[in-house]
Formats: sequence, structure tokens, C-alpha cells
Amino acid sequence: MKACCRSLGCEVLNYESIYEERFAARLDEFKWLYMELYDNEDLFWELCDSMRTYFDARHTELKESDRDCEAHPDWYRTSDLLGMMLYIDSFAGDIRGVKERLDYLERCNVNYVHLMPFLDTPKGASDGGYAVADFRKVRSDLGTMEDLEELTAACHRRKMNVCMDFVMNHTSQEHAWARRARAGEEEYRSRYFFYPDRRIPDQYERTVPQVFPTVAPGNFTWLEEEQTWVMTTFYPYQWDLNYRNPRVFNEMMGEFLFLANKGIDIMRLDAVPYIWKELGTTSRNLPQVHTLVRLMRIIGEIVCPGVLLLGEVVMEPEKVVPYFDTVEKPECHMLYNVTTMATTWHTVATRNVGLLRHQLGLVNALPKQYVFLNYLRCHDDIGWGLDYEKLKEEGIEEYWHKKYLNGYFQGHCGGSVSRGELYNDDPVTGDARFCGTTASMCGIEKAGFEGSAVTCSSEKDGIEGEAAVLCGSGKIWSEDAVTPMDLAIRKDLMLHAYLLMQTGIPVLYSGDEVGQVNDYSYKDDPEKADDSRYIHRGRMNWELADQIDCPDTVQGKLFSGLNRLETVRREEKAFSFDARVRTIDTWDESVLCMERCLGDEKILGLFNFCEYDRTAWINEADGMYENLLTGEVREAKGVDIPACGYCYLKRIG
Ligand code: GLC
Repeated sequence: MKACCRSLGCEVLNYESIYEERFAARLDEFKWLYMELYDNEDLFWELCDSMRTYFDARHTELKESDRDCEAHPDWYRTSDLLGMMLYIDSFAGDIRGVKERLDYLERCNVNYVHLMPFLDTPKGASDGGYAVADFRKVRSDLGTMEDLEELTAACHRRKMNVCMDFVMNHTSQEHAWARRARAGEEEYRSRYFFYPDRRIPDQYERTVPQVFPTVAPGNFTWLEEEQTWVMTTFYPYQWDLNYRNPRVFNEMMGEFLFLANKGIDIMRLDAVPYIWKELGTTSRNLPQVHTLVRLMRIIGEIVCPGVLLLGEVVMEPEKVVPYFDTVEKPECHMLYNVTTMATTWHTVATRNVGLLRHQLGLVNALPKQYVFLNYLRCHDDIGWGLDYEKLKEEGIEEYWHKKYLNGYFQGHCGGSVSRGELYNDDPVTGDARFCGTTASMCGIEKAGFEGSAVTCSSEKDGIEGEAAVLCGSGKIWSEDAVTPMDLAIRKDLMLHAYLLMQTGIPVLYSGDEVGQVNDYSYKDDPEKADDSRYIHRGRMNWELADQIDCPDTVQGKLFSGLNRLETVRREEKAFSFDARVRTIDTWDESVLCMERCLGDEKILGLFNFCEYDRTAWINEADGMYENLLTGEVREAKGVDIPACGYCYLKRIG
């Protein structure tokens, strides 16, 4: 059909009517929402004209893929998708380098690549690229827009999707609008929030929390030369955009469509809850934010329906879920499953799956259309956003529990083998977040670099040093010899096995597939030294990646272990999006059991979060099961799970 259209030369006409149809179907709601917010019909039609221009400029291949996506709106609700997020420079030098590494990404089974911020940003005032100076220019050391287009096209040929950050809450102070605002141009001044004195800023400060209380306290920055305050929720060089000005919205939508036309498939809406400010409120998640996101969704559905919106809402579940909105009037296609991520690490530190079961229960009860992005680690710190009301029932108090978690993951208490650093350690509130790679948090750094990779014997008497801490007293290992390194690798794989069992799109953090540990070299770079998030943003170590085929290495064990899990996830029907998912009581506080059922298919996942051998006291009297990772056939009753072990059991009748 497509080929026929092209050969008849009627392509343009054809797309025109497709566009008109999409537009007409959405116009009422689109206009109503825009007018409700801005009450400016001229600017509404100006936006519509500009949308049409971007549609006309969109490559035919992208338009075709948009049509495919429209025909298969569930295309991203599949257990085939596996993501990886990476920094272009750390991973491969520049954009062309990434293109040369696509074979490697394919070997990682990755078909969704999140390229961390790569747009033009001032050196030394960039927040890892989240301070954009020009939305139409690639950072010069990374390449050009043409390189980006070539990369996205190459990815599409391999059926890989490309994700990028759309930093819409703020621009860099060096952005052209900011410069013109500083030069006194009124129209540009109204695109930001300027105040001559502290009167209004002080009113905001009363109700607006701080994002970076220690490294960038307050929500405003004094500009000495201009003698004015400017709103800067994040770093002082990131000026908040004022979306009350419809020009800001219209022009930012132009930037969105421009980037979509470069072949981007997934737009990560950075810091989206912050985009509307209102005195007397927290200026987070206000109703106007939802109107703006809904407008953006409509614009995308008209111009580039193949492009997905991924909302970055790093908040508690009650705040996250509204960004999906209703199934009839959706906002984001996907959202980060942030509470599950934080609760996972809480479970590692407490070896108690109670809270995790509760959290998974909440997620599993949501409509199946909602797609979560699941992850263990990302480029940011871990904020301990847990359900403290629930923990209180167990006598666990928020303040002390955060202290414990931060102590545990720094390796200070709780028999921890984790390594990492605090982030934004606030001496006033005592609050802090945590940074470290998955491998370091699982003990691979300690076992590999601190000389504790000793083999311990099977009997408790022979267990020494670190291993003794892990084993406790009176416990024996389930195998003849388990080194702390083996145990760390197993813990790392267990967490991935559990991650892959959740419904949604799993996104790996680049380097995790080879167990990359913390990188402390950021401390030597004055531009990064203040920001411990760089500890887990280290350079990809390709020497490690060269070892993935050597079965005796850490990398070989992790890589092949992950590969097996990913294959199961892709191939087994019970992993599909519409499966019924629940957790089952194992009568052991450290062992999580997840069940996925689809039709007659049933798979159980068992995950032991503690360093002792445990038994999952499940009693599934419905036939025999096959361990999908070892081939063993057995009953799903009283299943022994070694320390930090895991298994997938499939019912075979
Ligand atoms: C998001 C990013 C974070 C950045 C912030 C400001 O939260 O994930 O890295 O610092 O936005 O843009």
C-alpha cells in the first residue's frame, strides 16, 4: 500500500488528508484546553500553523512509522522492549561512536536507547546537560544534528527506538531567550520569572520545597549585573521558564517537534511536575501542568503519533499516576516506577519483602494500559521516597530509617557490602539521598577491590572475614564454595531477574551489564566535584566489556546471566503486558514470590533478598514446574533458594 502510493506520486496528498483527519478529530479538546489556559485565539492558530509546518518537514520514513504506530497503538506494551540509558561521551566518545557500537547494544538485547542529554550546554554550568543553551544544536564535542539523524536512522533500521530528554522546565542562562531577557527585552523577560526584590521570592520560598538544598539552596538566584532575582528551582544557571506566557509553550512545542523530526521515538519530559508555578502552593503537579501535558500529547498525536511521552515524575505513587490520566484522555505514555525502585533497595537493606509486596500490589492493581518504566539505577541519586505510613505500622520511623539506609549503602552497618556516597546531605533536616552503581551497591566493588574475594568453605567454621558477616553464625552455604564476589554477582542478577519480572519496560543503566563499579574520579574535576551523582556516571570500561564471552569473569557471569533472563522474558507468554500479576506469601520475610498468569500459562519468580539460604514455603498444588534457568523439573512446594538466589518456575502441567 505504502509502496503503491509512493509510486503513484500521491504521497503528499495522502499524508495531507491523514493530518487533517488527526487534527479534526482532536481540535475541539485541543482548542478548549488551550483557550482555558491562555485565552488567546491568535496564538492558538499560530501554534496550529507551526504544527503543520513540522508535519510537512517530517521525513516520509518517520510518517510511515507513525502510521504503523497508529495502527498498532499497543506497540510499546510488549515484553520485547528492553531499554538502556547511556551518556554518549562516556559510552562511545561521540554520536558517531554510538553508531559504531550498535552491534554491542544489540548483543545486550537492547532495542530502546536513551541518549542522555546531548544538546548544547555551557561547560561548567550544565547539570549533566540539563541546562540547555540551544535546543537545535548538539554539544559540539558530541557531534551534529546530522550525526543524530544518522544515528536515529541507523537505530530504526535495527528496530531500535531512541529516547532523549526534553528539558522543558528551564533553559540555561546562556540560552538566546535568557540573553535577550538579560539585555532587557521585555518579551523575553516575560519568558522567565524576574523580581526586583525579595517580596515575591520570599512568598514562594514559604511553600516551595528545595530540590538541591545543599549544593543549590533556595529557588531564586540574584543577578548582580541586572540587579534582579530570577527563579531557579534547580541550579542557579537553570532559569525556570514561565509557561503562563503562551509564547513559551508555543515555541517549546516547536523545539519538541523539531527534535521529534530528527527521529526521536521517546521524549523524556524532564522535571515535568515543576512546569507551572503558583504562589501559596508547592508549585509541583499543579492542574495546569496536566493541561500542558495533555496539550503536548494531543500535539504529538497530530504531528508525530509514533513519538512517546515518558514523564519524569520522581514522586510518590499518588502524584505519579495522574500523569497517565484517564484511558480516554491520556497524558504520558510511560512513567518511571520510582517508588518500586526505591522500595527495592530498601528491601536489599532490610532483607524484608513486606513493603515491596505492598508496593507491587498497588502497581499491579492499576489498569494494564498504564506503562511503567522499571529500573534499578539511573543517572540520578536514589531519594528514599518510601511509604512511611506503612512502615510506621512496623514501628519504623522515617528519619531513622533514612539514616539506616544511607548508612547501609555506604557500607557502614547492617552487614552491608555496598559502596557509594551520599547526595545532598542536608545538615538541617538530616535528609540525604544516595549514589552508587548497581554493582557497587551489590558488593562487587568491595569484593573486587578490597581484597575480600576469598573463597569461603562450606562449613561455618571455615568462614572468615567478610564472608562471616554475610553468613552470620550457625549458617552454612548451600554450595561448596561461594566467594563474596559470587554472592555479589548473584545478588546483582537476582535484582535484575526480579526487575525483568515486573510489568513494564525495563531500562538498564549502561555499564550494569558488565558490573561497572563506582567511579571516584569526578572528585578531581572541579566542575563535577560537588555533585556525587557523577560517581555512577563513569566512563564505559570497554576492557570489561571485552570479557563478556569469558565465562569465568565477573563480566562474563553477569552478561550471560542477564542474557538468559532477557531471553526468558522475551519468549515466555506469561511475561506479556496483559498477564495477571500478584505476589504470593512465602512465609519467609526475605523471599519474594511473584506470579504471572496468562491463560493457562503460569510462571513464578522467587527472589531471596538475604545472604542466607532460605526456603520459600509456597504450596502450589497445580502440577509440575520447570525451572526455566536450569531445566530442573520439580514441584512448586517448599522451594529452597540459596543466599541471594532466584529462579523462574514455569508450570508444565
Ligand atoms: C531531572 C534530571 C536531573 C536534573 C534535573 C534538572 O530531575 O533527571 O538529572 O538535575 O532534572 O534538570
